[in-house]
Amino acid sequence: MQQISDITPLREIRRKWQNDGKTIAFVPTMGNLHKGHLHLVEQAKEHADIVVVSIFVNPLQFGPDEDLASYPRTMEQDMAALEALGVDVLFTPKADDIYSRGLEKQTFVEVPGLSYMICGASRPGHFRGVATIVCKLFNMVQPNMAFFGEKDFQQLQVIKAMVTDLSMNLQIFGVPTVREHDGLAMSSRNNYLTESERQKAPALYSCLQKLSENIQLGRRDFSRLIHQSTEELAEAGFTVDYIDIRSVESLLSPGHEETELVILGAAFLGKTRLIDNIQVTLE
Ligand code: PAF
Repeated sequence: MQQISDITPLREIRRKWQNDGKTIAFVPTMGNLHKGHLHLVEQAKEHADIVVVSIFVNPLQFGPDEDLASYPRTMEQDMAALEALGVDVLFTPKADDIYSRGLEKQTFVEVPGLSYMICGASRPGHFRGVATIVCKLFNMVQPNMAFFGEKDFQQLQVIKAMVTDLSMNLQIFGVPTVREHDGLAMSSRNNYLTESERQKAPALYSCLQKLSENIQLGRRDFSRLIHQSTEELAEAGFTVDYIDIRSVESLLSPGHEETELVILGAAFLGKTRLIDNIQVTLE
């Protein structure tokens, strides 16, 4: 595996791959890799000749009171894991190169609508930061395809919308969430949980599963279901940000005829914000 931090050598090797007729898959990450990330890499390897992974903790997607400074950075372990999987290039750009004119002057990409609801309402500017960095990384790596986890469901929809709206020439793959044995969705932020919080954490997924079962049994009183789940999670020790039932593509509240739904949840255990979701297809 080659580690590249500068854009010039990345473009050179990219040109060589293109001349050799190779297809390129890209997995953007912020590092602290867990099995969920490694599963994205495995999927990428199945679909393309070359796999590029980036590690960049993107300051533009963190709010002023969020965990940018404490976000876990584990470069040595990450490199060993990627090397073992046979990744071709690890791209580790520096913040000063990525945002060379400074964060305040940075041109940004914003996907309206999708970026402002649900997580976007709680984390203003977050999806602008995500869309901007992902667009920049796509411009640098110029992949044929890119892989994102479905755990960050809204992020995936924002990126798909950006790719469509900006006529970007690549395919986006969403990859199902990888879970711990007790159902907790894998996430770098799980590292923040104390032992007792970790024990409570799977209740978020259980709550979404229960909602999904109720909907599949025919319940359509969504507001009531959401209210009940919110209360149950609060009783289990969570501070609930939102529980919601949305239409998969638009992430708007579903109409009566809608068959493709997603149940989304975000809740704090102490200072740690967990998110999860389940997709439901109605008969
Ligand atoms: O999902 C993530 O880790 C990040 O939001 C991403 C897509 C790498 C952009 O910084």
